[in-house]
Amino acid sequence: MPESLHWRVSQRPTSNYTNGLNRVSDVSNSPPTTEKGQSKRHQKVIQVAPEAPRASTLHAAGVPKLYDPGYASTISCISSITLLDGPSGILRYRGYPIESLATLTSFDEVAYLILYDGLPSRRQLGTFRRTLACHDFASLPSCVSGVLRAFPSHAHPMTILVSCLSALTADIPKLNPSLAGSSVYKTRAARSDAVMSTLAIMPTLAAAIFHHTTDNPLPANTVCSSSSEPLSYTERFFKLALPNASPTFIEALDTILILHADHEQNCSTSAVRHLSSSGVDVFSCLSAGAAALYGPLHGGACEAVVHMLERIGREENVTDFLERVKEKKELLMGFGHRVYKTYDPRARIVHRLAHNVLQHVGSSDPMIRVATALEKAALTDSYFVSRKLYPNVDFYSGIIYKAMGMKPSFFTVLFALGRCVGWLAHWLEYLDDPDRRIARPHQRYTGVIGPLIVPSLDERVDSSNGSEAWDKGNIMARL
Ligand code: CMC
Repeated sequence: MPESLHWRVSQRPTSNYTNGLNRVSDVSNSPPTTEKGQSKRHQKVIQVAPEAPRASTLHAAGVPKLYDPGYASTISCISSITLLDGPSGILRYRGYPIESLATLTSFDEVAYLILYDGLPSRRQLGTFRRTLACHDFASLPSCVSGVLRAFPSHAHPMTILVSCLSALTADIPKLNPSLAGSSVYKTRAARSDAVMSTLAIMPTLAAAIFHHTTDNPLPANTVCSSSSEPLSYTERFFKLALPNASPTFIEALDTILILHADHEQNCSTSAVRHLSSSGVDVFSCLSAGAAALYGPLHGGACEAVVHMLERIGREENVTDFLERVKEKKELLMGFGHRVYKTYDPRARIVHRLAHNVLQHVGSSDPMIRVATALEKAALTDSYFVSRKLYPNVDFYSGIIYKAMGMKPSFFTVLFALGRCVGWLAHWLEYLDDPDRRIARPHQRYTGVIGPLIVPSLDERVDSSNGSEAWDKGNIMARL
């Protein structure tokens, strides 16, 4: 148990917290499950984090504002969704260790856990799946399909996802605070509608983007059938994207989606909270989350890792590549993390999974050998050891996606397929946050103080010698 944290067994601090959502089949408004009568192993162990001083209180007491690039030393919210203890390499959703969830549950159970703060019963799981598979948006609504078709097939899949999520707002105007009023998310029905619409559409949208960017038509949606067992979230994606995918692929992606479901205040989740603070509609928040995720330092790293491994090509080239990294000419993609200062627990699981999947397809992809050699060399090199740089979740995931037949630019869409659950959970949590205020950090101004007097056009001196500011690459001079 990490020394830095204090633990105790007790009731949840907000035992009647419901996220403003009913559990899917809990239409009777029955009270949340109490801990009474639960076996010890099901008791909730809650973290009592040390109190963080409020910056506003310190400031009022005369402490100057702090400069914190990348918010590396800032607590931006109070959350009870995910526990991430970086120095110890611990990741838990609602108290359940990621290792147990990855081996004992499905993504749908984890989505339910994260959103409704409890694992579903068999009946609840079935209802959850059926509701999603038969939701109207399990087929693409018109604005979204129109936007999708407007993109050329060579567009990056993440740019399409970002735009389609934003377009979803047009298909559900009743969930747009600018049209329906700022109190729209105060009702359980509206929150539930936002969550279920997103989870219904995501597998279909991901599959549609997959086909659109590989120049294939999207097959008719056949995921909802009242007579058969409802398909899971992951099965829905595969049924529409790669209907003949083997159970090994489906299981592997389901596990990866569990690993991606949430990761507390990462760049994309913080973006979702940030946008939400302005009161904008939920789908614009998710679109912003997807845009942030797309960056190569965040979820886009899984794509960048594969390009890096392709460039390295052979195990013999690993030493030279690492030298360039140490000279700061390259980044070792899939390595390092703001919070983990030890092995990312998700990376361990993905590494094992990559070997299983490659064995299953009978692949002798040299990429896994290069990746393994790279990891081994980095973990014994003082540059990486002293900086506590270890493989993160993205180091091996691309190898799995590649074995499934996905192209690298599509990888981050799969990350978003899992992470949208975390984005929604944080959106919901934030709506009920009593400390909610519009996000508005400060700056330290270093420009000209002035006030300068604006000269007329004739009075201004042309110091460019005929070449324009933008020709000199002086981007600031253009603004
Ligand atoms: N390769 C080489 N050097 C690195 C790397 C890396 N991947 N990551 C960090 N460093 C060095 C960095 O240059 C710095 O060195 P120095 O002390 O000499 O200046 C030191 O390690 C500390 O790094 P930092 O810049 O303070 O780290 P950060 O917390 O600001 O950045 C990171 C975290 C994930 C953006 C960074 O490690 C990185 O760029 N990694 C590669 C991209 C990647 O794999 N991203 C996926 C993250 S996990 C998925 C997700 O949740 O987003």
